[in-house]
Amino acid sequence: MVKVAVLGASGGIGQPLSLLLKQNHSVTSLALYDIVNTPGVAADLSHINTPAVVTGYLPANNGLEQAVTGAHVIVIPAGLPRKPGMTRDDLFKKNADIVRGLATAIAQFAPQAFILIISNPVNSTVPIVAEVLKQRGVFDPKRLFGVTTLDIVRASTFTAQISGAFSSDVTVPVIGGHSGVTIIPLLSKITPKYEFNHDQIVALTKRIQFGGDEVVKAKDGAGSATLSMAHAGARFANAILDATVKGVDGIVTPAYVYLGAFNGANELKATVGGLDYFSSNVELGPNGINKIQKLELSAYEQELLQAAIPELQKSIAKGVTFVEEAS
Ligand code: NAD
Ligand code: LMR
Repeated sequence: MVKVAVLGASGGIGQPLSLLLKQNHSVTSLALYDIVNTPGVAADLSHINTPAVVTGYLPANNGLEQAVTGAHVIVIPAGLPRKPGMTRDDLFKKNADIVRGLATAIAQFAPQAFILIISNPVNSTVPIVAEVLKQRGVFDPKRLFGVTTLDIVRASTFTAQISGAFSSDVTVPVIGGHSGVTIIPLLSKITPKYEFNHDQIVALTKRIQFGGDEVVKAKDGAGSATLSMAHAGARFANAILDATVKGVDGIVTPAYVYLGAFNGANELKATVGGLDYFSSNVELGPNGINKIQKLELSAYEQELLQAAIPELQKSIAKGVTFVEEAS
């Protein structure tokens, strides 16, 4: 039995993400939780002839408890999206409360689950979830992930538009965090190898860092990236399922994680100004993160890292303080 729960399943991301997860034949149960509309979304998806049995839950009748209990993976795209002119941090006030509430239920009813956070601001919401789990004595850093896969997806697409490669063949590690200058694409590590000139590196870096703004602007008040995020979220969730259910070896992908209790965490922490949370390539195994890889940066990428560190420090502290003050 492999149960996956999506919290925020009726939203712009939640619906297409749930559709993509319904296509994964490793999933036998798909639990959809939201404060609205999940009975309809679940009924619709339940007609698709793949193995997952789909169930919709609302807050009534202990819906959240039922949705998360027994879940192997919990994906969280619950919360407000940006409108033009907003930063991701402007979402903190609303989304911090939402994420804290969901994390509290997970700590109680699904403490063993792999938890994948999509809700923004990711740089703060991941520390919020970690603090809630720590308070209840059930935090396992190997099982908590901020999903930064959309930055990697964008980096493949945008670089391929310049290099002429097939975007699906291209991999660019993206490290740091998930907001503006904290997003650090490592164009020096692109595969297949390609030598961009300095102007191209600067322009591509900016485009990847602010890719989210392109979508927010184009949607003109109707929200932010949903479909590309659903693709990215499913890709990351499928990687977790492959590593932890199918036992697939050698899966490596960036994610924003707490730097503790797995190989490489202390070494990486020392190179990123002592930050407690950072996104870098993680090597996955049956229990989640096996190892986090160290950084090899060009001089330009070092500069980007230095600009990201204070911003990340602020966002992490904001999440931690929020949970401390709320308790
Ligand atoms: P949306 O408004 O379309 O959907 C959000 C859903 O969350 C809604 O259905 C809403 O009812 C639900 N919700 C609100 N409070 C809830 C609660 N307490 N419990 C359960 N569900 C609740 O928004 P969206 O476009 O799907 O975006 C969701 C979040 O994902 C936003 O915060 C957005 O900024 C973020 N996001 C992150 C990334 C990333 O790369 N990590 C990319 C895109 C969007
Ligand atoms: C993104 O990168 O598209 C998301 O974080 C949503 C946003 O607010 O830009």
